[in-house]
Amino acid sequence: AVLVEHTFVVSQMNMTHLCKKTPVTVVNGQLPGPAIKVTEGDSVAVHVINKSPYNITIHWHGVKQWLNCWADGVPMITQPAIQPSHNFTYRFNVVGQEGTLWWHAHVPCLRATLHGALIIRPKNGAASYPFPKPHREVPIIIGDWWEMDLGQVGRNMMHGLFDDFASASTINGKLGDLFNCSGTPEDGYVLDVEPGKTYLLRVINAGLFSEFYLKIAGHKFTVVAADANYVIPYTTDVIAIAPGETVDALLVADAPPGRYYMVALPNQAPLPDTQTPEHATRGMVRYGNNHYLPGTGAPAPILPKMPNQHDVITSFYFHGNMTSQHHRQGSPVPVEVDERLFIVLGLGAVCPQGRTCERGAFDSSNNLLVATMNNVSFQPPATTMTPLLEAQYYHTGSINKTQELPDWPPVLFNFTDPSLIPFGPKESRLEQSSRGTVVRRFQHGSVVEVVFQSSAMLQGDSNPMHLHGHDMFVLAQGFGNYDATKDVASYNLLNPPMKNTVLVPNLGWVAVRFVANNPGVWFMHCHFEFHLAMGMAAVFIVEDGPTVDTSLPPPPMGFPTRGHEHNLMPD
Ligand code: C2O
Repeated sequence: AVLVEHTFVVSQMNMTHLCKKTPVTVVNGQLPGPAIKVTEGDSVAVHVINKSPYNITIHWHGVKQWLNCWADGVPMITQPAIQPSHNFTYRFNVVGQEGTLWWHAHVPCLRATLHGALIIRPKNGAASYPFPKPHREVPIIIGDWWEMDLGQVGRNMMHGLFDDFASASTINGKLGDLFNCSGTPEDGYVLDVEPGKTYLLRVINAGLFSEFYLKIAGHKFTVVAADANYVIPYTTDVIAIAPGETVDALLVADAPPGRYYMVALPNQAPLPDTQTPEHATRGMVRYGNNHYLPGTGAPAPILPKMPNQHDVITSFYFHGNMTSQHHRQGSPVPVEVDERLFIVLGLGAVCPQGRTCERGAFDSSNNLLVATMNNVSFQPPATTMTPLLEAQYYHTGSINKTQELPDWPPVLFNFTDPSLIPFGPKESRLEQSSRGTVVRRFQHGSVVEVVFQSSAMLQGDSNPMHLHGHDMFVLAQGFGNYDATKDVASYNLLNPPMKNTVLVPNLGWVAVRFVANNPGVWFMHCHFEFHLAMGMAAVFIVEDGPTVDTSLPPPPMGFPTRGHEHNLMPD
């Protein structure tokens, strides 16, 4: 094992797309940011130098941070944010995980431009992949191009305003030739391939809102891993990927030499519904690289036939096809469940302090629209307070200024009734919600089962639910309302896939199980940025175990604490 060291200079710079110079906040001048490549078992140190005007943190999405919650990078949950002209060093080990993860800023909306791949290769190299050794490995990061100030977009969202959209989707930072600046097509991402060779695509959805369908004309994918967990390989011509998810897929260059479009089709704006789905962000797979000069009569690149952008069935089956590589999975699915939560995802109204609001009447001038889990909306501790992890570790009083996440929704109703009107003057069923720093505590080692139930209030928006510090066994999914009396029978307890981000089917549910064995304070939230900014989040607190090996160690040297300054040491 070695130490992999990076310096991330976060700064604002101008980038030009669509004829417009736009200030963007990036790491080391790159978009996407630098890829971190490690071998399983390595240690990582990332020195973050914040030269941007924003408070930021960096989160290592999917890294388990075993006994190392201090490095998880969530502002006011695990650490105070890194202020402008301040530095912070993240140190962590990558143990027991292989595949594709990623890193991103964990402040509203800035992750749209502050992100990059985190690639974990097996100890014995590519020879120990449970699939044919690829000729090359290629990150494919799907993202957004925004022409707006993302800090402002984030603030708008926190006030319940969702009117801002990206200008284009991107593949590895490129918009593709359907977008142009005064008639000059934008560059698209090009993957040059050699006939007959196999490529491992490490696909990451770093977009703020959209699920994507990814296709390459004339080619199929073999999915081999998701969220850095191997799956039993399966073949598909389309990849469905929600914000926060990663998919590793093999691509064999077995088509007649030529050029084939790679299309990333979002299910949200910027793509208007009226456009043909093929007209989305596209890159290209190109055989050979110098046979396609203009005027040589080379045939036009071939377009794939895309699913409808709002097709939820294709995504449902893509995710439902995943089963884990049983023999490589660390532990079997626990059968006895200690804690059960049924979490309904919804929207609610909060009456701002000092006002009176008419119950059941949503009126944006009076109420604040919030996103909820069991009708409670998450509010992070104020920046003047002690971050939750520090408060939990030192047992300070502020850990008690939290609110318990209910295990069950306060009222049962027909969650997926399409006539459910989220908000409106009279017939509104939007609940008055409460707001607070929502936590749920678990004894060390508890087996927790969570059913996430989506509701019609969300109007088709995605709910990719992400848990920090743990992977979840994904036992089953379905459409409609979850019904324990019959749905438990569909649980896959033999080889369910393990994910850190699990997509709740639109107007449906998903059941997961995890073992709460990593002591600390872990964020659990929707990775659809608007929902997160509006409070669809909670903190899972995992208590220390009985031994030193199962307890959270003190903060690392130099970790900035509030009121526990004795630990301050030069970095
Ligand atoms: Cu990828 Cu809490 O986030």
